[in-house]
Amino acid sequence: MSNWPRVPGIAYGGDYNPEQWPESTWTEDIALMREAGVSMVTVGVFSWALLERREGEFDFGWLDRVFDLLHEAGIAVDLATATASPPPWFSRAYPDTLPVTKEGHRLWPGSRQAYCPSSTRYRQAATNLARALAQRYGQHPALVMWHINNEYGCHVPQCYCDGSAAAFRNWLQARYHDVEALNAAWGTAFWSQHYTAFDEILPPRSTPTWANPTQQLDWYRFASDELLACFTSERDAIHEVTPDIPITTNFMGAFKPVNYFDWAPHEDVVSNDHYLLGADPSPHVQLAMSADLVRAAGHGAPWILMEHSTSAVNWQPRNLAKQPGQLARNSLQHVARGADAVCFFQWRASRAGAEKFHSGMVPHAGTDTKVWREVVELGKHLKSLGEVAGSRVQAEVAILFDWNAWWAVELDSHPSTDVQYLTIVRDYYESLWRQGVTIDFARPDDDLSAYKLVVVPALYLVTDQAAAAIGDYVRAGGHLLCTFFSGIVDENDALRLGGYPGAFRDLLGVKVEEFFPLAEGEVVQLSDDARGTVWTEALHPAGANVVATYVDGPLAGWPAVTAHHAGDGLGHYVTTRLDQDSLARLIARCCAEAGVRPPIIAASGIEVVRRRGDGASYLFVINHTQQEADVQAVGEELLTGRAVTDSLRLPAGGVAVVRETH
Ligand code: GAL
Repeated sequence: MSNWPRVPGIAYGGDYNPEQWPESTWTEDIALMREAGVSMVTVGVFSWALLERREGEFDFGWLDRVFDLLHEAGIAVDLATATASPPPWFSRAYPDTLPVTKEGHRLWPGSRQAYCPSSTRYRQAATNLARALAQRYGQHPALVMWHINNEYGCHVPQCYCDGSAAAFRNWLQARYHDVEALNAAWGTAFWSQHYTAFDEILPPRSTPTWANPTQQLDWYRFASDELLACFTSERDAIHEVTPDIPITTNFMGAFKPVNYFDWAPHEDVVSNDHYLLGADPSPHVQLAMSADLVRAAGHGAPWILMEHSTSAVNWQPRNLAKQPGQLARNSLQHVARGADAVCFFQWRASRAGAEKFHSGMVPHAGTDTKVWREVVELGKHLKSLGEVAGSRVQAEVAILFDWNAWWAVELDSHPSTDVQYLTIVRDYYESLWRQGVTIDFARPDDDLSAYKLVVVPALYLVTDQAAAAIGDYVRAGGHLLCTFFSGIVDENDALRLGGYPGAFRDLLGVKVEEFFPLAEGEVVQLSDDARGTVWTEALHPAGANVVATYVDGPLAGWPAVTAHHAGDGLGHYVTTRLDQDSLARLIARCCAEAGVRPPIIAASGIEVVRRRGDGASYLFVINHTQQEADVQAVGEELLTGRAVTDSLRLPAGGVAVVRETH
């Protein structure tokens, strides 16, 4: 891949923060990195204060030495631009660069990311630093990639200061050109909100009650674009100096404030950070979903796992350590889902600072530890998977995902606060995952013709263009599975009239006259033994067949699930949140009708993903259960080098990667 950093095979490493340690430790670091097979480290993520000690006064001495040490050891550098956290002198000199909350409270410096994304002062300073780094290290032979900033928006996704308000007005002016177009789009005839000039418009700050919904939606769009402008400003400065070095910034999977589908085309390669959530009952499913989403941002191209943890993190209420074997299992699960680099936060666990209880590749207790042994073992594994790099994940099912729909569906004053976008997406994702089906995420206006089944969870907002593309897909023979609260509004959050689900009414052959959301905890029974929560709706079939009806609840006797033939395709519509078992049955039925099959048939809890590259195919098999398992495969198992003649025995928690022979 031309945009890939110049690191062979699957790159391995992590954030390296040598400035936290005396130089005597650096020599040991390098020796240990070699022992672990580390091939690339990210340097400088939070180094602004030590690189530019006073405005315009750069001190590159220590970083020069780090670069040279790494290069001598054959370890490549992904150089961060260090702009994620301005130094204390900066906030003191320019206090108006500090971010302001919705309530008008200005945040203080003293932790990290204390900057307003719309501040021109901040952007200039950040871009200057990025340019200075490019000029200093652009020709260094160790440099293979640029890592701009860090986790944009992680702590401060939006700033409500006056500068941001002015930037918002400019953004609106560029979008609507004249204020009457904005009035029409925002529906300002309601509640006396009509604007006579752009100057009257503010961010959706803390107001007496609900701010205008389209104003809120545009604010999300604006805020994501403002962060992107910070990124592109640094990127452009760097590109001028080093046009051939790929540029990335680390995403955070399903992170609501930043529209990664919009962002990814501005990068050379996509990268992601992922941390397991201790409170998630199936964190490995959450991991898979994050990986698949990020792969979709890059349209299926291999991506970089920029951060995950060797064991516990420090920022959850209870930080669970990883079980033996879990480190490799998590890492290889990302590789199975398209990662061509495995990196951790961070190389050496810190002695001081807010993250000192976060695990690292080198733990506080040193190298005679589970973590270190597993770090070394993972290095060997990744080496043996070198040939997998560049191959692509194969999927027959797509789930449509859209940040605009996410922002809009969760706006306030809606029929039910229980309709949470990621919960519904996850329901369908997890059900497919449990049936062994590999999933791609896709944009609603993508060409979907390669998929046998397309799932549409809560696509509340949909553009005319996307609705047409989805319709074309079905009529040409595609299978669709669509949930309640989809197709409801256009891109301005204006209702599509004539009955729900507006944009998909004809396609699905139904007409809904009224929503009947359920009370908290209320469960309704369906005729096919299924159960629903959260939502029901009064649906009239208009061509669709009724698959199941409500037995009780506010709509006893009304249709609950329908199926409709449109052109050569078939569209299912589900009007409630089905429980796990009921959803599993429905998904199994839709998969069977669409001819969707898992890569191979395996027991529940065994994850199987196929990656295909130049003439070769690789079967990743991951055992998430407590029992050993047998799976059918023929080829060579790459982690052990053993031949697999017809079946493979995988220990509990084990992973295998088979280069298949057909
Ligand atoms: C990420 C961040 C890292 C570190 C890590 C801890 O959000 O990019 O700098 O804070 O979390 O898990």
